[in-house]
Amino acid sequence: MSGFSIDGFFSLEGKVALVTGGSRGLGLHAATAILLAGAKTIFITARKADGEQGIDQAVDRLNKLAAGKGLKGRAIGIAANVAQVEDIERLVKEVKKHESRLDILIANAGATWGGPFEPTPDWSSQKVLDLNVRGVFNLARLFTQMLSASGTPQDPSRIIVVSSTAGTNVPHVGDHGTIMYSASKAAAHHLARNLAVELGPRNITTNTIAPGFFPSKLANGLIEILGGQDELERDNPRQRLGVPEDIAGVTLFLCSKAGNYVNGEYISVDGGQRLASGRQTKL
Ligand SMILES: NC(=O)c1ccc[n+]([C@@H]2O[C@H](COP(=O)([O-])OP(=O)(O)OC[C@H]3O[C@@H](n4cnc5c(N)ncnc54)[C@H](OP(=O)(O)O)[C@@H]3O)[C@@H](O)[C@H]2O)c1
Repeated sequence: MSGFSIDGFFSLEGKVALVTGGSRGLGLHAATAILLAGAKTIFITARKADGEQGIDQAVDRLNKLAAGKGLKGRAIGIAANVAQVEDIERLVKEVKKHESRLDILIANAGATWGGPFEPTPDWSSQKVLDLNVRGVFNLARLFTQMLSASGTPQDPSRIIVVSSTAGTNVPHVGDHGTIMYSASKAAAHHLARNLAVELGPRNITTNTIAPGFFPSKLANGLIEILGGQDELERDNPRQRLGVPEDIAGVTLFLCSKAGNYVNGEYISVDGGQRLASGRQTKL
């Protein structure tokens, strides 16, 4: 029997993390999990600072949660549009005012667009590609110095790309088609594999989380169009949609000691739905 310990396998004690799109939805679920796992500083970024779904309320919630649980971690909000390279450059500078190293980068912010094929406005493709692909590439590129300053052979820094099961299947065509979203997520999957090979030697691993449906501002419209949450739950092999803890679990695995040697992989978090599409499964 080899002697090893699994003590602290899922702990993120003392870590510094940045979550894009951390003001709500999946990004906020991931940020919450990182905080609860003992991280020291969690930067969250999004475009809007104020309002019901802005960064400030999320930072407030996270810091109250930390205080209530007696945790040392704190959240810091920085508004930035991560589809724009100049804003990412500014974000790096702002982050450096607080921390010199970064352990975890969660590239989660994403945009979608749905509609019929031929009238697709070109701006919609540009918006989706700029955020879901170019933005992720630029985030990884511009934060590499801070990530490699922190990663070690025993404990590499982590980049997590939040993509979608739409990156490996064809979820919606027709009136509410999401073809360019799906193509952008396929690109995000492959971008992560390339980053895994480029950055592995610098003690940074890159992996992809591919969620199925999780109720959120981004997904709720499509969930309604497809018949509502109850109907989608009946279709899912696990008979439910995703919940915050599902994102928490996979985030902690990939970001902690437990996921140390996983690099260039993607994990679908969809209850198996991606395998069960089409009528045949109902025959
Ligand atoms: N929910 C699902 O069912 C589902 C399924 C598969 C994949 N995903 C993926 O999961 C990720 C998060 O989605 P979600 O459902 O949590 O969406 P959401 O609730 O709409 O949240 C999106 C987050 O991204 C931020 N954001 C949007 N554009 C941005 C930009 N240009 N720069 C910086 N931040 C930006 C938003 O804040 P601001 O608007 O203030 O910028 C918000 O914090 C996306 O990549 C999405 O494709 C979601």
